Amino acid sequence: MTTTDRAADAAGTGAAGADRLPPEFFTDPEPGGTHAANTRLRTSGCPVHAINYPPGGDAYVVADYATALEGFSDPRLSKQVENAPAWFRDLLEDSSPVLIRNMITADAPEHTRLRRLVSRAFVPRRMALLRPRIQEITDELIDALPESGEVDLMEFAFSLPMRVICEFLGVPIEDRPDLHAWGYWLSGAPFADEESNAELKRASDSIERYLVDLLDERRRTGLGEDLVSILLRAADEEDVFTNDELVSTLVLLIIAGHKTTANLIGNGMQALFAHPDQLELLRAKPELAESAVEEFLRFEPPVYRGTLRVATEDMELAGCPIPKEGFVHILMDSANRDPEAFEDPDRLDITRGPNRHLAFGQGAHFCVGAPLSRVEGQVAFPTLLRRLPGLTLAVPHDSLDWVFDNSTSRGLKKLPVRYDARLAAGEGDH
Ligand code: HEM
Repeated sequence: MTTTDRAADAAGTGAAGADRLPPEFFTDPEPGGTHAANTRLRTSGCPVHAINYPPGGDAYVVADYATALEGFSDPRLSKQVENAPAWFRDLLEDSSPVLIRNMITADAPEHTRLRRLVSRAFVPRRMALLRPRIQEITDELIDALPESGEVDLMEFAFSLPMRVICEFLGVPIEDRPDLHAWGYWLSGAPFADEESNAELKRASDSIERYLVDLLDERRRTGLGEDLVSILLRAADEEDVFTNDELVSTLVLLIIAGHKTTANLIGNGMQALFAHPDQLELLRAKPELAESAVEEFLRFEPPVYRGTLRVATEDMELAGCPIPKEGFVHILMDSANRDPEAFEDPDRLDITRGPNRHLAFGQGAHFCVGAPLSRVEGQVAFPTLLRRLPGLTLAVPHDSLDWVFDNSTSRGLKKLPVRYDARLAAGEGDH
């Protein structure tokens, strides 16, 4: 049975079919918007609801903060593909084997082994050392903008993290368009239609070939201080990773390392445009960048729901029964607006503190790249506001188009902006 057949079957006669949320809850939210739909979920009795996603799967969304926290640390919710229903596992193994041999699809103790090396490379102290280079890259990208006029700020938003992650990994930046295209398909895996899954398989094979070649070349030409070299050295000397795991880990870092941070910049800027008082406050007080970035992550999280989680036994979450092999999607965009956890949650307040948002997840799988993307955000927002006076949205705010693809990220298709002048780097400093 294909996933499309399963979806039809589930929508028709499945036990929970009648009151399940449709798959479009994720991919084509109703006109009132995601946040209005989430509020309805949180206030309709039980914060856990059945959803037909992946189409044909037995699946649930978690909408409130307290249950989301519980879900992130419940050992009965597995991230291991082996615990998913056979049809889903086969679909992933057939379409994108390169995705499922890294930490994000593993439970302890495998998870601990696969994560340790990478997380050591991403500690905040090391990321702080990257700050001057991130500032330089940000300035170079702004130098390349026209002196005034209109641009699509999503191009900047995608270029910054892609250049940073390529440099950090030691991957040639010229290969960015290929990495970007493969990342698009891989971050949506698996799809409900065969055509998309065939495209996904092509992307999976291509990125695997690309990285195997890159690793071979790095071994031949000698290791440096980049992250690929650090991981290679550990894999070769300490026998910590198989080559397959190394390739899969690099795929994860490339995918997780750019679209997410691009959407932090895009989602954060659009939130500022919708709240001009907060924009002016950040322009006047760039020292607020740290708390502002946390507030953007809370208010419009770039990753709106958790990645694969599957119940390993029949269980309950917030009193709602979840059967063995049921999928559980934790909605961070809903938890982050839960009034039980945040005062006045629909208000953007760049001075908010404490701000215990769930945009990077929680527990063992807490985002490895959080320290890196935080630095990128803390550099990007104040630099854009300082160097582009008059920066403003060039279209009506309600005409902005959100991307609702198959992946767990949510961002804008385009962010057309205009500005009065482009100041030189260093000019306009406080
Ligand atoms: C604003 C930017 C980012 C956001 C919002 C974000 C969000 C997340 C979230 C929510 C998770 C946990 C998923 C779950 O438990 O279901 C996660 C995991 C992860 N992220 Fe990020 N991420 C960002 C940037 C990055 C960057 C820049 C990198 C690396 C270069 C990265 C690498 C990872 C990795 C490797 C994991 C898996 C951790 C594990 O399974 O132990 N992320 N991220």
